[in-house]
Amino acid sequence: MSGQPSDALVFLGATGDLAYKKVFPALQRMIQHHGLDVPVIGVAKAGWGLDQLRERAQKSLAEHGGLDPAAFAKLSSLLRYVDGDYADPATFEALRRELGSAEHPTHYLAIPPALFGLVVGQLERSGCNRGARVVLEKPFGRDLASARELNRILLSSFGESRIFRIDHYLGKNAVQNLAFFRFANAFLEPIWNRNFVESVQITMAERFGVQGRGTFYEQAGAIRDVVQNHLLQVLANIAMEPPSPGADHESSRDEKVKVLKAILPLSPADVVRGQFRGYRGGAGVSPQSTVETYAAVRLHIESWRWQGVPFFIRAGKCLPVNCTEVLVKLRRPPPVYTAVPPTNYFRFRLSPEASIAVGAMVKRQGDELLGEEVELMVSQEATAEKEAAYAQLLTDAMVGEPFHFARQDYVEAAWRIVDPVLKVMPTVLEYEPGTWGPPEAGALVAPGAWHDPVVPPEQR
Ligand code: BG6
Repeated sequence: MSGQPSDALVFLGATGDLAYKKVFPALQRMIQHHGLDVPVIGVAKAGWGLDQLRERAQKSLAEHGGLDPAAFAKLSSLLRYVDGDYADPATFEALRRELGSAEHPTHYLAIPPALFGLVVGQLERSGCNRGARVVLEKPFGRDLASARELNRILLSSFGESRIFRIDHYLGKNAVQNLAFFRFANAFLEPIWNRNFVESVQITMAERFGVQGRGTFYEQAGAIRDVVQNHLLQVLANIAMEPPSPGADHESSRDEKVKVLKAILPLSPADVVRGQFRGYRGGAGVSPQSTVETYAAVRLHIESWRWQGVPFFIRAGKCLPVNCTEVLVKLRRPPPVYTAVPPTNYFRFRLSPEASIAVGAMVKRQGDELLGEEVELMVSQEATAEKEAAYAQLLTDAMVGEPFHFARQDYVEAAWRIVDPVLKVMPTVLEYEPGTWGPPEAGALVAPGAWHDPVVPPEQR
């Protein structure tokens, strides 16, 4: 079935937050750039009709990326709406009727993960799963055991080739460019290993808090929300072995699984959890909450290439800037000219803009042998609009292209790494909003230091 274009797109959770922020903007973009021209059926329990859904789409587009009148008119003509409770079989019978003659619908579950099992069961009972694909959003489960259970439920109604697990970082050009840049250039590969690389740091800093998603965050926390998925994906792109030239896309997915399997499961000594002051006062948050809004972890990859090279991941809300950046620090050369040898590095910025830079030392003007640190900018581009990643992923799912989706074995390998610290959580430490998190995180990278991304004030 893979390869046959979907003849309808169903999105469950049509009145929810994800649909508002990501799905409608992605749909508009799919019309503008990918020729979306099939019925788009929203499903939700809101007591709404189609007109209200159209109004919601209009508002969403006005707020997220801007409304294109022609594309919106087209979207309005494609939209359908089914109102009903997910627990009620009648909702899915109505959906089956709305699907009409569609034989290969794509069902996008833009709903809370707790409802995945229920909805997949209903899709199967109503026959809506026949010939269909299913798209779901991370987090896939909340630990290794629940991820396995979710996979079991999904696989009983949809084969693996019809399941598309979205981690929107996989749709980002800057993330795809990590592996591309490594394997498309001859100069990198000889030094991309333990002999030349001293450490790797991945920082995902966000200036904002949980943005009204307190209830979700209480269930998730930073480790489940972004470390287990987005940031391990980034790490996999930096650390994986090259896929076989000319092999199909599965070879690349195989290599990502392989590198995750070589990572030792986290122990509490490798983790610092933080919570910004004020989080407990937010809507939907327990006044005694011990959920982390910040996490820093130290990972070890037991492989020939990476043995002994620490990989650090740090993610947090209410940090000083909005920026996601990877720093691959090279071992220092002997100090021939300068008392302190230079730091050479590769710096990959994934947001707010996308760039690749190389840190080098050059001689200053003048008679003295004094060094000056410079950066060689390899490439720099304004990050594509956020809806580009979602639009590309949904378009891929609708033709059965799996490359930019997380495979079952990958998801389980990622949970295996964080699972021990989800079971025995290290104490959460309070940090001041606008700082780089709890100072205790410094001990993880000692004797080195965290690299704090520098972002110009207008981009922060
Ligand atoms: C989401 C997380 O998956 O990714 C959010 O739930 C986070 O907490 C967001 O803010 C970051 O995505 P992006 O594309 O803005 O880096």
